[in-house]
Amino acid sequence: MTIRNIATQPIPGQKPGTSGLRKKVTAFMQPGYLENFVQSIFDSLEGSAGQTLVLGGDGRFYNRAAVQTILKMAAANGFGKVLVGRGGLFSTPAISCVIRKTGAFGGIVLSASHNPGGADGDFGIKYNIANGGPAPEKVTDAIYTRTGTITAYRISDAPDVDLDAPGTHTIENMTVEVVDPVADYAELMQRLFDFDAIRALFARGFTMRFDAMSAIGGPYAKAIIEGMLGAPAGTVVNGEPLEDFGGHHPDPNPVNAADLIGCMSGAAAPDFGAASDGDADRNMIVGRDFCVAPSDSLAVLAANATLAPGYRDGLAGIARSMPTSTAADRVAAGLGIRCYETPTGWKFFGNLLDAGMATLCGEESYGTGSNHIREKDGLWAVLFWLNILAATGKPVEAIVREHWARFGRNYYSRHDYEAIDSAAADALVTHLRAQLPSLPGQRLDDYMVETADDFSYTDPVDGSESQKQGVRIVFAEGSRIVFRLSGTGTEGATLRVYLERYEADSSKHDISTQTALAGLIAVAGRVADIAVRTGRNAPTVVT
Ligand code: G1P
Ligand code: ZN
Repeated sequence: MTIRNIATQPIPGQKPGTSGLRKKVTAFMQPGYLENFVQSIFDSLEGSAGQTLVLGGDGRFYNRAAVQTILKMAAANGFGKVLVGRGGLFSTPAISCVIRKTGAFGGIVLSASHNPGGADGDFGIKYNIANGGPAPEKVTDAIYTRTGTITAYRISDAPDVDLDAPGTHTIENMTVEVVDPVADYAELMQRLFDFDAIRALFARGFTMRFDAMSAIGGPYAKAIIEGMLGAPAGTVVNGEPLEDFGGHHPDPNPVNAADLIGCMSGAAAPDFGAASDGDADRNMIVGRDFCVAPSDSLAVLAANATLAPGYRDGLAGIARSMPTSTAADRVAAGLGIRCYETPTGWKFFGNLLDAGMATLCGEESYGTGSNHIREKDGLWAVLFWLNILAATGKPVEAIVREHWARFGRNYYSRHDYEAIDSAAADALVTHLRAQLPSLPGQRLDDYMVETADDFSYTDPVDGSESQKQGVRIVFAEGSRIVFRLSGTGTEGATLRVYLERYEADSSKHDISTQTALAGLIAVAGRVADIAVRTGRNAPTVVT
């Protein structure tokens, strides 16, 4: 075995976005592309010599090859040990769990999350720090800067490790331990939730359909829901992780998980439905003929948190991303705790969780989680719901309707305009920003503008600042429109328009969401000049 120093040159565009570096897998497979980025990560770390790294991915195309390359580079860069999931697999939440449990130095997550996989799909790589969470911007900025000056990368010429053989292997002076990717995570879930009560629920004949969308959530859901909780075999569908996710777009929303939505309709439907995404950190919660909006899910979990053993002592605070609906704020107010509003992206929750200021966090993009790890966690949310269903004996729909009756309903929807021209998208945002000073006090149809700004955030823990995190127009009586461009897409630009309207009167909680928001949708289209600037008359995805 020899360590080689391979000369290389900077490759433009290796800038981490909302959640790591994401590109087409064909870009990642170019000579030196992965190596340059991994070396830039290693060069940006201080004190990593002899330390332990956790490594794995969601099993998409190129996962195995990338794991082998990274193992050889970690050895050449002086790491002492790498814990890698069997088969090179780990869900994103499980990596976070294992980093924390083992006190590892950090971890590398291979995933493009909810983006499609396969030979012409997307690939991604993300560095997580010792708290188990995504690296903060100062680290990702340093990595990006390094990608611009890199001249060589270090790699061992050792043979590939047998990733399917659990146990210890060696590359140069580094130990590679191939571990069960599920065990530590399952043990943590068992401590947080009342597994006896959920087991009894299934024993009474409660039925569920968990759609893992042929992604990494499958092995975790099968081991926990079917294995430990005794749900019948077949409760987890699409449970085998496939390199192309079986052609699924593993983004659990009612559009991409239409099959699950169909199964959840009618008298014969299961009591409870759920789905998770490519790397199993997102979740969708479905009742019989009833979809739970992710922002509502966060609020319901917060309001019922003490039913779960892990949260019996109550919540220190709640945090949500800025575009997420303010339903959770109303729960926080009721509980007398703070609700923090952060920019989009899970990395912004890390400091609040580390400082003990927040216990639950959530995003409107089907992401929910807590201080148990430092990533959002799909199966955790599903188990939390199961715990609530077991403790209350009520159906999903009743729980949400009672929540609305108590706190009011935040009608909420996100309209995405995908793969639009990047220059047109930038111009649209510039056009919006130019209007900000003149909007307050203006009446737009039925809506009076109270404030309008481009969201900026000062981290209350370390004082770091993040500017231009989304244009928001806030109206009287709790309605809002937020505009931002996606930081995870790999084709052109994606405009996200977030719409929210608050309704306290429970006799008005039965309107269909798009009808309830129609007035705001029209205002958004006009203020941002969406049709003309994007060339689209309708969004590509409505969730
Ligand atoms: C999207 C979601 C965001 C989430 C991120 C990673 O980012 O909107 O909430 O944290 O994926 O899962 P965006 O594409 O909007 O930048
Ligand atoms: Zn994900």
